[in-house]
Amino acid sequence: MEIDWVALKAEATKAMKKAYAPYSNFPVGAAALTDKGEIISGCNVENASYGVGLCAECSLVSELYRVGGGKLVAFSCVDGAGSTLMPCGRCRQLLYEHHAPGMLLDTVSGIKTIYEVLPDAFGPEHLEQK
Ligand code: THU
Repeated sequence: MEIDWVALKAEATKAMKKAYAPYSNFPVGAAALTDKGEIISGCNVENASYGVGLCAECSLVSELYRVGGGKLVAFSCVDGAGSTLMPCGRCRQLLYEHHAPGMLLDTVSGIKTIYEVLPDAFGPEHLEQK
């Protein structure tokens, strides 16, 4: 599948502008291409109870299911300046759960696979009955 990284980043930037981040003042936007060819996005949504805040990736994964599900083929995440941002550790796990084989991420050190940003990942395959 052809990946338009510029368009994906633009979509992440658009989502970032919708963020609710009054506590950190660190808005984040994320966008992904699904295996159905759809572009989905999400933004962080914080909370007065700080630890309850939702990362942009949480919002993105909810959107994935809202539009009917699927797997993530390509992913881009940006900060308030529109610069590429690395997903936090928890969110790498979240993305791993829904990755399409060979999922690609736009990172601060170039395009990388989900396997590179979360090596030796624990995932649903480990829960399969043997
Ligand atoms: N944040 C994300 O939304 N995604 C990440 O991968 C990194 C961190 C958010 C959480 C919090 O609202 C703000 O950035 C500052 O940590």
